[in-house]
Amino acid sequence: MITITNLVRTYQTGDNEVRALRNIDLAIATGEFAAIAGPSGSGKTTLLNLIGCIDEPDEGTIEINGSVVHAGKAKERALFRRENLGFVFQSFNLVPVLTAEENIALSLSLLDMPAAERRERLRAIIDEVGLTGMEDRRPARLSGGQQQRVAVARALVKDPKLVLADEPTANLDSETGAAILDLMHELNQSHKTTFVFSTHDPMVMDRADRLITLRDGRIVDDDLRRRAS
Ligand SMILES: Nc1ncnc2c1ncn2[C@@H]1O[C@H](COP(=O)(O)OP(=O)(O)O)[C@@H](O)[C@H]1O
Ligand SMILES: [Mg+2]
Repeated sequence: MITITNLVRTYQTGDNEVRALRNIDLAIATGEFAAIAGPSGSGKTTLLNLIGCIDEPDEGTIEINGSVVHAGKAKERALFRRENLGFVFQSFNLVPVLTAEENIALSLSLLDMPAAERRERLRAIIDEVGLTGMEDRRPARLSGGQQQRVAVARALVKDPKLVLADEPTANLDSETGAAILDLMHELNQSHKTTFVFSTHDPMVMDRADRLITLRDGRIVDDDLRRRAS
């Protein structure tokens, strides 16, 4: 699904050069539930942003489902992102003036889809993430965990091939974070969506099927594990 070859990303700040990613090679198969771990500054966000076509590499390539994602024009990348990728962020990134349902519907608004299908998809995903009855609440009237459920639903509602989540539990208490991870894993199983998420939380690492560890921009460990359950 994802093939990363010799990926390099260096940030230039004044006279300083930060080598955020140093020659990363990595393959992730369809349907994986993979965590990218590593301390703060190890390159997790940089790697997710490159996979998500939010940023450009200095060297190397990323192929997703056979297309080299950074080869085309910005417009093609935007289209690719819209049709194939879902994102979940640490800080939820919901639109405060929109209701839960409107926030989720946003990611369908750019897709060409009949109104009836749109409604059915919204109903189904709201049910799956456990937000039935809270559709009309604005983010300020939802708990952190509920807000992240809205964000997960927004990422999943368009049935993307790949969901990228950058530290999705960093702003949640551990019990709520565990519930979000379990929800993501259920959706990974039921929708066959590939998930790649970053974390430095051991509780989250425990819930991953695969744990890829970064340090100073290099992969220092890649552990294919089995979930206990
Ligand atoms: N926009 C930027 N400009 C300069 N340096 C950056 C930028 N973004 C990240 N870095 C640096 O790149 C390295 C990797 O950062 P990041 O990918 O955010 O790591 P992580 O997500 O694991 O904390 C760090 O040393 C960070 O300071
Ligand atoms: Mg980060």
